[in-house]
Amino acid sequence: MLSRMRILECASRDEAADLVAAEVLAALRSKPDLVLGFATGSTPVGVYERLVRAHREDGVSFGRVTTFNLDEYVGLSPDHPCSYRIFMRRHLFDGIDVPPQNIHFPPVEGADLASACREFEARIRACGGIDLQLLGIGSNGHIGFNEPTSSLASRTRVMTLTDKTLADNARFYADPGEQPRLATTMGIGTILEARRVLLQSFGFKKALAVRTAIEGSVSSFCPASALQMHPDVTFYLDSESASLLTMRDYYRRAREDEARLAPEDA
Ligand code: F6R
Repeated sequence: MLSRMRILECASRDEAADLVAAEVLAALRSKPDLVLGFATGSTPVGVYERLVRAHREDGVSFGRVTTFNLDEYVGLSPDHPCSYRIFMRRHLFDGIDVPPQNIHFPPVEGADLASACREFEARIRACGGIDLQLLGIGSNGHIGFNEPTSSLASRTRVMTLTDKTLADNARFYADPGEQPRLATTMGIGTILEARRVLLQSFGFKKALAVRTAIEGSVSSFCPASALQMHPDVTFYLDSESASLLTMRDYYRRAREDEARLAPEDA
């Protein structure tokens, strides 16, 4: 397989979700014991809706799948409505047949979080590594909760969230005092080891981060720029998120060429 970084400007968020869900389902058909890396937040919700529909309406089974979520808040109980465990149950896990014992989240409790983080990494390795990692991107360029200036070689660990991330997510907390300021996240090094990465970005708020990630230098100041080092990454963008790309026409042409040359991949 050739190394590639694909930039797909989609007609709509729905088209992006259709394409990503189709990739997940195709990967599942060829490998029923797929290892999936999941993101939370508003961006992947359309994909999760489509996976639930594929299970309910087409009988697609996730019974042999293993999942690893990117991140979870430290300091929220696992049943708090803002916890990512609850988010994933609501949007995906309650609607498909993935066995609960196959679902993994980064550790957020216990006296020795550092060694629990190492165990989480060991678990990913024991499952053969992540086949397909879904990502969103923060308006500050974060992936997972790897905030700007995260080591590009970082592994799963506890991160202090930036003011930007706290402000972006403040709307979910009626009581601002409840909002966690720490999260455990897979590291950038962890994410780069996934065999394939599918990143979606929607809205103008992300446009500068998207341009910096794709067209800027690789820099810890924009963690998503580390994906330039990944051999198989696809960006699924709506037109607002793509609006600041300087080579936008080129990406459109490359997509047309890909559709012509390798229709099964496009
Ligand atoms: C969440 C995560 C974050 C989000 C990012 C975008 O698991 O990994 O990096 O993907 O903050 O969030 P939304 O999708 O809410 O704009």
